[in-house]
Amino acid sequence: MGLQSLLTSTLFSLLCVHILFITESHAQLGYAAVINISPTLPNTAAAPMIDRSFISYSLEHMAMPTFLNSPMLNNLMELWKSKTGSRPGLRIGGSGMDKTTYVPSLDQPVMWTANPSSQYLVGPSYFKLVREYFPSDTQITFGLNLVNTTDNWQNTVEFAVAADESIPQVDLFEIGNEPDLYVSGKQRPRGWTGKDYAEEWKSVANRVKTVLPNAQFQPAVFAGSLKDNFDLSSLVRAGINNYQFKIPTYSLHFYAQSACSGNQNLDRLVDHNILGAQLQRFNPELAAAEAGGARFTMAESNTVSCSGFVDVSDTFASALWLVDYSLAAASKKIERIYFHNGPTTPYSFFIPKGANGLESGIRPIYYGVYFLAEALALPEPGSTTKFMVKPISLPGSPSDIAVYGLYSNRVQRPNLDVAGTTKVAYTTTVLTTKTMVSTDIFETIQSVSTKRIFKSIATSTKSITTTAVFIVPKETVFTKTATLPGTKLTTIENQLLDGSTMTQTVEIAYPMITEIVLPTITRSRTTSQRVYTSWVLSTIWTSQEITLTKIVRRTKPLIYTTSSVYAAPIVVTSTQTTTNPQATNIGNFPSYDGVFLARAVILNLSPYNTSDEKVLNCRSCSAPSPAKYGTVGPRKSTRMTVTGFQPGHRLKLVRLRGPGLNAKAGVNVSGIAFSEETGEVTYTPRPGSIYVEWDGTARFDILASEAVLLVDEKVL
Ligand SMILES: *[C@@H]1O[C@H](CO)[C@@H](O)[C@H](O)[C@H]1NC(C)=O
Ligand SMILES: *[C@@H]1O[C@H](CO)[C@@H](O)[C@H](O)[C@H]1NC(C)=O
Ligand SMILES: *[C@@H]1O[C@H](CO)[C@@H](O)[C@H](O)[C@H]1NC(C)=O
Repeated sequence: MGLQSLLTSTLFSLLCVHILFITESHAQLGYAAVINISPTLPNTAAAPMIDRSFISYSLEHMAMPTFLNSPMLNNLMELWKSKTGSRPGLRIGGSGMDKTTYVPSLDQPVMWTANPSSQYLVGPSYFKLVREYFPSDTQITFGLNLVNTTDNWQNTVEFAVAADESIPQVDLFEIGNEPDLYVSGKQRPRGWTGKDYAEEWKSVANRVKTVLPNAQFQPAVFAGSLKDNFDLSSLVRAGINNYQFKIPTYSLHFYAQSACSGNQNLDRLVDHNILGAQLQRFNPELAAAEAGGARFTMAESNTVSCSGFVDVSDTFASALWLVDYSLAAASKKIERIYFHNGPTTPYSFFIPKGANGLESGIRPIYYGVYFLAEALALPEPGSTTKFMVKPISLPGSPSDIAVYGLYSNRVQRPNLDVAGTTKVAYTTTVLTTKTMVSTDIFETIQSVSTKRIFKSIATSTKSITTTAVFIVPKETVFTKTATLPGTKLTTIENQLLDGSTMTQTVEIAYPMITEIVLPTITRSRTTSQRVYTSWVLSTIWTSQEITLTKIVRRTKPLIYTTSSVYAAPIVVTSTQTTTNPQATNIGNFPSYDGVFLARAVILNLSPYNTSDEKVLNCRSCSAPSPAKYGTVGPRKSTRMTVTGFQPGHRLKLVRLRGPGLNAKAGVNVSGIAFSEETGEVTYTPRPGSIYVEWDGTARFDILASEAVLLVDEKVL
């Protein structure tokens, strides 16, 4: 076996995943199970990356005033963004979009009318409502009417133009909702097929493009019968492709069950194999979307179509279903899921304040959304990580367990302690001369101070008056002394910090003679008395400090040179030893760089109903679950052993837990609590933690009807 094939086979066994049921081998999850998850993926193309706005919302035009009347929707969207780094998308559409007429003169946002039949009218204030409620980074897919052909879709084009002008968040347009049901809904004649739809769609889309050249579309919007050319390969063949119409995504709708067909059942909702078969049908659609140059979206989805079903859609089972369905869909490259919500429908995530007939509150299904937000939470603020999702296929395909590995798309090194001794040799290069050049450096030389002494002359006057009478001879000579000012030049030399000197010449003026007496005599004619007055001039000394600041600009770079010469390269050997005794048992855990397992979601879908009547009803649910359906016998707990995480790491453990599938209250994600009025988090979750043993296993218990998320916070 050559080295290449040896490597390939090692890699193959590494990616091979298996499950062992230790105590039981039938379909029901036993008391103990071992799940081996591959620790790495071969590369970043090995599994689909999950879009950060993966869980999005689908709401009807006519439901907007009720939803936008309370901060709940905004708070829940913001909560998702605060975890995953991106706001959920919003699709405004559903069956109501094909019953909507734009009326520019309407003075209210949305109005129901019985004339001509059950229809909705939308006025300009509707746009303001939407524009002002949603933050600017909300991506809105806006639904338009294809059914009404009265004026050759002129109203549809006008509605699109007005919405595009008034709502900057509008990103995509849908034209027509579930056209594959138009014939059965008597909106088109018998024999109208997907080909006819394609022609009508192209004609409306081309008219919208003429007015709005940058408009983008999300076509198909099929309910999913996939018959009569209502499938994506027929649509792409009919010329509706990305190159012509700027199509980022094609959309189909998916509901696990239907309230119109009488097919609703709690146990079947959480059956992993039923889900698998349902999603399998979309494989050709996904391939056709890709072939048409675009992606694939479930733009309307939920547990039970035709508005949901009480006792299924409003129970904890729907939360487990949402987690399993979303991760299964993501692993098939379904880009986004828009969950359909009505103000009071049984499948709604929450009931907004002011919805007619029900109290506001968070429904059990929303805990599934929050659990996914924790699963896809950014490993650190501002992280660029995206998670790649891989379903772990299990032998015997049990229907009551689902496992997903979430891998970080950032290639990183495992920080695994390798057993034994490793010798590493480093070779140094011969050092020669190192020259550091720094140019353009300004230096400031501060506080060069010098003391100058000034002499100045001040005059004081002294006067003496004698009272004695002198006989003065007629001729008297008085001596007179004068001041002769002098100057002197002095050179001051300053030693600067950089070693240079600065010279300054200062002229100092000073008096040669510092004192003179100039008596004057006045004589009284009458008494012959003389008064002597003399002036005394004295010298006053002053001194002054001068600080000179000099800025020196170097014109030549400073060059530092260090030389060190080695005669020969030096080899340094380092020995690393890990002493953990069990570390040898981790088998083939990789020690090279790779795309590592960051998180895992394990769903124990073994059905369990509670008989605790106090959790069979919730504040925002229309009716309690029937009490008679409590499961007989105790709720089984399974000891799970999972491998694939890095030995020695701590794993955060988050639980999505409820009293039973049929419970409508008491659902929780590691203790989180929400305000039932505003949807704000009032109690932050407190997840638990477990350690990965040195043999590479991590163990925890999981109840029947419960989901666990493991997060290795060291994988970024
Ligand atoms: C169809 O649209 C026109 C406006 O173009 C409107 O007057 C009419 O009521 C609509 N018909 C239905 C059935 O909604
Ligand atoms: C749980 O209750 C539902 C009705 O709410 C029932 O259809 C289902 O069979 C019950 N499942 C179990 C396992 O008890
Ligand atoms: C979730 O757990 C927290 C903390 O234990 C509790 O306050 C809250 O009521 C629980 N939520 C529900 C819906 O039971």
